[in-house]
Amino acid sequence: MKTRIAVLISGSGSNMQSLAHACRGADFPAKVELVISNNPKAKGIGIADAMGLKTCVINHREFEQRKEFEQQLDIKLRNNRIELVCLAGFMRVLSPFFVQKWQGRLLNIHPSLLPKFRGLNTHEQALKAKEKIHGCTVHEVVNELDSGPILGQAEVPVLPEDTPASLAQRVLAAEHKLYPQVLREFCANL
Ligand code: GAR
Repeated sequence: MKTRIAVLISGSGSNMQSLAHACRGADFPAKVELVISNNPKAKGIGIADAMGLKTCVINHREFEQRKEFEQQLDIKLRNNRIELVCLAGFMRVLSPFFVQKWQGRLLNIHPSLLPKFRGLNTHEQALKAKEKIHGCTVHEVVNELDSGPILGQAEVPVLPEDTPASLAQRVLAAEHKLYPQVLREFCANL
């Protein structure tokens, strides 16, 4: 039986697309059952629709409290019998209220080699620190931001002529390979 996953996005959704593409493989141990965006304008929602995936928008702006937003998220996931949640460019911080409900079944991809460069603007941070190697990490989500057990990492070189944008592009290409690999392994061991 394939693990029923939901992918949570906020923007362009390219990692969601790479996960959904991998999940189409007959021997891949997971299936994307739902794509949720907190942002009604996310480009990724259109991509998911075009791929024939079930989509839904839960706009965080419509809730006064973070907890109410997270409650709706949780209800949606449970109603769809989701077993594992993959954050893929989901740009809302999830509070302990949600994280505790899904702990051990909540993965994230982050555009740096954690524990280096938590938070935002990781490519700027890497360039500023004059790193020669940069990359991305898939990890389990815990209460502390961009922490939690590391499940896999991919490295890319930092080139002398790199800008944040060129580096982001190279890292993103590595993310698209890493996330499906880690997901496959994680589900195989569930
Ligand atoms: C990716 O680089 C992802 O690692 C990053 O946002 C981008 C989303 O791209 N996530 C974070 O920074 C989370 N803190 P995508 O929407 O095309 O997958």
